[in-house]
Amino acid sequence: MLVQNLNKTNNTMKILMVCLGNICRSPMAEGIMRAKIEKYHIDATVDSCGTAAYHVGDRPDPRAIQTLKKHDLDISHLHGRQFEMEDLERFDLIYTMDESNYRNIMNLAKTKTEESKVAMILNTIYPNENIPVPDPYYGGQNGFDQNYELLDLACEEIAKRIKN
Ligand code: 4NP
Repeated sequence: MLVQNLNKTNNTMKILMVCLGNICRSPMAEGIMRAKIEKYHIDATVDSCGTAAYHVGDRPDPRAIQTLKKHDLDISHLHGRQFEMEDLERFDLIYTMDESNYRNIMNLAKTKTEESKVAMILNTIYPNENIPVPDPYYGGQNGFDQNYELLDLACEEIAKRIKN
């Protein structure tokens, strides 16, 4: 089994959050993970992207912005971008929101090292269950609120593992 290396000691840990459109789930994950990094004084950077190009350059979905605003987090300045091959080299930890994103990224990985960087984000709190962060785009506000709770738990766990 491939195991992520969360124990870098010498330089900044680079974390990438990935979903399909990069306007709902992954920008939310980016904003939440940034807050955890501050909270735990972790030396890390966080970015997000989408596997698809539909929303390149777009701001996050207003519902995603509003959901994080309720928790005093601001993601209104972010812009969508598409995943690129170099991301597998540049980043240390790559978290996908669902199995489709996971497979798309794993298919692009060239080495075992690159493959070992990639994980479905909810496997951090529900190991090996491959539970997705549901795509909220065509649903209501409720989906965004539920995603916030799931991503908050997962990002808290990621931060604690890096810290320890
Ligand atoms: P995301 O949600 O992958 O969480 O950003 C989506 C946003 C847009 C679309 C699909 C999913 N779309 O088909 O445009």
